[in-house]
Amino acid sequence: MASVNRFNHIGFEDFRRFAQDESMSNYERIGFPDSYRQGYEAAIHEDICRKLTNLRAADRKVVDIGPGCSDLPKMLISLCGSRSHSLTLIDSQEMLNLLDDAPWVEKVGAMYPRCRDWIAHNAGKVDVILCYSVLHYIFVDVGFFDFLDSSLSLLAPGGQMLIGDIPNVSKRKRFFASATGVRFHKDYMKTDEAPVVEFNTIEPDQIDDAVVMALIQRARSQGYDAYVLPQAPDLPLSNRREDILITRP
Ligand SMILES: C[S@@+](CC[C@H](N)C(=O)[O-])C[C@H]1O[C@@H](n2cnc3c(N)ncnc32)[C@H](O)[C@@H]1O
Repeated sequence: MASVNRFNHIGFEDFRRFAQDESMSNYERIGFPDSYRQGYEAAIHEDICRKLTNLRAADRKVVDIGPGCSDLPKMLISLCGSRSHSLTLIDSQEMLNLLDDAPWVEKVGAMYPRCRDWIAHNAGKVDVILCYSVLHYIFVDVGFFDFLDSSLSLLAPGGQMLIGDIPNVSKRKRFFASATGVRFHKDYMKTDEAPVVEFNTIEPDQIDDAVVMALIQRARSQGYDAYVLPQAPDLPLSNRREDILITRP
């Protein structure tokens, strides 16, 4: 019989606490060990810009849902400044306080999509939505399809949304059940043991292929194009994470 494993999840309120913890590095405050992000964020930013092509234009409306406080949102703030984009950052006020203010930056202290007035006011006006490494928290904390539907409602014609860095447990299993994944695990963990990969088991609060495909299908059935995209191979988690790109025709 399948066993039910509850994972210890961190969520929005934990991040609010991390943001105020001066003993943590900025990577730890956003839930990553330093080794997963240090030295990689320029490559992550480049991968994001390759997919969100509207960022290359000028004078667009950009939104970052869950920017956190590492160098990644700082790179986006700087890019938006140089392209005359407006940028809205939506996260806990405590997290947003760790990012510099700028004339082109608006900060909305809220657990998205529980900023209904802001969403209603900006419906159909947004050219770029970035939501990077946040979906797994949204999946647990808030209505999942509410998140998707609210985001779709924001997109202007030609608008793009990147739901990036999705830890898809099905992709992770495919990798760790492969010879390449076994080799990677042994090298990384400095062990002779193969990784344990369990199929046909109930995994509460985990994103799997069914969730990824449901997002794609729901976006498409509501009139948007949607695609699963790989991450560039030089990204630290590219062997077990992937991205979704949604565009409004
Ligand atoms: C893993 S960090 C990712 C930060 C950043 N996007 C990056 O990749 O560097 C997750 C961030 O999302 C924020 N977050 C989680 N759930 C959220 C929600 N429902 N609305 C807005 N922000 C959220 C957290 O406070 C945290 O700053």
